[in-house]
Amino acid sequence: MAKAKIAVLISGRGSNMAALLYAAKADDCPFELVLVAADSPDAPGLTLAAAEGVPVIGFPKPTAKDKSQFFEALDLRIRESGATYVALAGFMRILPASFVSGWDGRMLNIHPSLLPKYKGLDTHQRAIDAGDSHAGCSVHIVTAELDDGPVLAQTPVAILPGDSADSLAARILIAEHQLYSRTLAAFVTREQQPEWMLNRVREIALALPQADEVISHGMPCFGIEKGKKFAWFTRDHHGDGVVALLVKTTAPDEQATLIEADPDRYYRPAYFGTDWVGIRLDRGANDWNHIGDRLRASWRQVAPKKLLGLMDIAEDF
Ligand code: GRF
Repeated sequence: MAKAKIAVLISGRGSNMAALLYAAKADDCPFELVLVAADSPDAPGLTLAAAEGVPVIGFPKPTAKDKSQFFEALDLRIRESGATYVALAGFMRILPASFVSGWDGRMLNIHPSLLPKYKGLDTHQRAIDAGDSHAGCSVHIVTAELDDGPVLAQTPVAILPGDSADSLAARILIAEHQLYSRTLAAFVTREQQPEWMLNRVREIALALPQADEVISHGMPCFGIEKGKKFAWFTRDHHGDGVVALLVKTTAPDEQATLIEADPDRYYRPAYFGTDWVGIRLDRGANDWNHIGDRLRASWRQVAPKKLLGLMDIAEDF
């Protein structure tokens, strides 16, 4: 599987960037760093990244006046690097909404608190002052609001008697270095996880009129309420190791035609007859538009006439 390409944005020492960089050196790490960019030419982390052979760029410190040009230039450089994800690692800039929306769902940040507690600065002192038993760190998806996007993972870190903000920060940093690479690895491979695939199928299937979900033969199964089934999700059924979606075909011989055209992806599901086809979801590069089309087409095969009529009207809009 090709590695996900990551651009890391830093402002200072870049120890989290270094943690990502060294995690990426493992052969089985699913990501690689293709760019380290900083909002200052002398951010110390740049020297390290460059010495490790990662392309770097240190932009001249932007002033309030040239903030939008800075983010445009940064965005351009990230895209030129081929990165498909951005990891913020101590990047001390408020991001404009236009920059964030260009990386919607593909930009992560690490924050030294157990979000939603203590957004912004001085997180360590605020946790100590509040008398919390634990502080910690969070990795979250970046949205336009500061430190506000969905949290992907957290590590709680015990506050010790006599901790200062600095001693606590140093301990949390150890946890940050572990958490960031692990979470980023899981995030860039999430579409290969059966649970993610099932949720995606569920989202599409349950958006169809009168669709419901039950367990049938031990598999999540989607059908018309009190009616016929139009999809099964199979995951390692009877230990076969296969993750696939079973849908109803739309024409005689379609099963055979699909299998012949792409035998790696389509197959004849056992016990289902010739009017169903299995679509392997564990082969990588799933085309979810196509899978959505197949689910909708399968629904149409079993939907009562009245519902089909309603669907046609809805689709005409
Ligand atoms: C880290 O504490 C991180 O959580 C916060 O900024 C700090 C950056 O440290 N966002 P470093 O530059 O990664 O060493």
